[in-house]
Amino acid sequence: LTTVKEIYRNRDKYLDQEIAVGGWVRSVRDSKTFGFIVLHDGTYFETLQVVYHDNMENFAQISKLNVGAAIIVKGTLVATPQAKQPFEIQASEITLEGASAPDYPLQKKRHSLEYLRTMTHLRPRTNTFQAVFRVRSLCAYAIHKFFQERGFVYVHTPLITGSDCEGAGEMFQVTTLDLVNTPVDDQGKIDYSKDFFGKETNLTVSGQLNCETFAQAFRNVYTFGPTFRAENSNTTRHAAEFWMIEPECAFADLQDDMDLAEAMLKYVINFVLENAPEEMNFFNSFVDKGLLDRLNHVVNSEFGRVTYTEAVELLEKNNDKFDYKVSWGCDLQTEHERYLTEQIFKKPIFVTDYPKEIKAFYMKQNQDGKTVAAMDCLVPGIGEIIGGSQREEDYDKLKARMDELGMKECDYDFYLDLRKYGTTRHAGFGLGFERCVMYLTGMGNIRDVIPFPRTVNNCDL
Ligand code: 4AD
Ligand code: MG
Repeated sequence: LTTVKEIYRNRDKYLDQEIAVGGWVRSVRDSKTFGFIVLHDGTYFETLQVVYHDNMENFAQISKLNVGAAIIVKGTLVATPQAKQPFEIQASEITLEGASAPDYPLQKKRHSLEYLRTMTHLRPRTNTFQAVFRVRSLCAYAIHKFFQERGFVYVHTPLITGSDCEGAGEMFQVTTLDLVNTPVDDQGKIDYSKDFFGKETNLTVSGQLNCETFAQAFRNVYTFGPTFRAENSNTTRHAAEFWMIEPECAFADLQDDMDLAEAMLKYVINFVLENAPEEMNFFNSFVDKGLLDRLNHVVNSEFGRVTYTEAVELLEKNNDKFDYKVSWGCDLQTEHERYLTEQIFKKPIFVTDYPKEIKAFYMKQNQDGKTVAAMDCLVPGIGEIIGGSQREEDYDKLKARMDELGMKECDYDFYLDLRKYGTTRHAGFGLGFERCVMYLTGMGNIRDVIPFPRTVNNCDL
């Protein structure tokens, strides 16, 4: 079997030749003596039109095919200069691989994304999700390519862990304990020594701490894998299971970190624009008008850079526009992040040097004693897509901060060790992969850029 992609890419080789293509019926239109089938084979965004005549012995059977049926078509590819599509296949033989029941839920009309969310197993067959998941795949490839070309070592960080990197306590516990007859200790607390690992464990919220150990051995590393957060936030940009890209670089500071993040995002945008032009045009026409102009502008301009303190001053002037009023010390909400990047800067920006109280324990403390060397990258339409920082490399300062926060030192011995044995200035960040895909496609809901979304009250398939 040839593929539709191959035919579109090398049309001269196939015109007027006998070919065979396998795919799924998008529509069938028949008259008494001939009919048309629109075939989609999954390899390419475009479809292939099939023309068939009543000289085929199964003409009646083919004319009655339901949408969704799987068929193999043999015939000649002919140019159709007057038609919408550049060519069609004149079928000499059509074999039915698998019929489709008449209640096939995907019909030719456009279905709403909400409706399609109710059928996670069938929605990849639609144009929108063909485009989304092809771009998602390319985007992952581009990210690996970016880091590998720069000599970064890909580390597979564990999914089961005993630590809480972000210190937010939003973790899914991993346990083999019997939930009914849970063993308890003398104080009535759950006795994790009887658990599989002999201690309390959870699914990772971030691979960063593990990445740091490798950065202190390989210098530049990254991890790219699933992370899990039991945040009880039912929004269009939070998922309970999402993928994160986390580079970590030894001998790097916050400026280097932002330069790397900016270069990576621009690289990925360029790669997808170049390698998925049909899909990107589709998004630009049907999902987010202006997407291509915006992305082209982003790759050709510099990201803005502003401190948290400056950002708060800008936002305070517009406090009448926000549900949640801004003042120094507060965490920025999505409405504030979007206002900054959409209304004030009108491009992606980095916000740096946040108050230490609202950021994680590992961030490098600034001279002022109040802020840390953190950066968030905010983009129009979404808000935060990257969170990163320079890390505290000083043993005493880190230890003091951990004590202040009441962290159990025994769980983080390894982490303190890194500051004891050849510590270096180092920095890294985490890019939310789904948010990156949303940004690239203009899709507005995280549930529509992840193949099998897990969100509050939703773990289908
Ligand atoms: O800002 P966060 O929490 O940073 C970290 O986890 C750091 N340890 C990363 C690092 O420095 N290595 O998360 C990073 C990014 C966010 O900017 C966001 O894009 C994404 O991960 N993210 C989520 N994406 C989808 N659903 C959620 N629930 C997310 N939580 C964070
Ligand atoms: Mg963050």
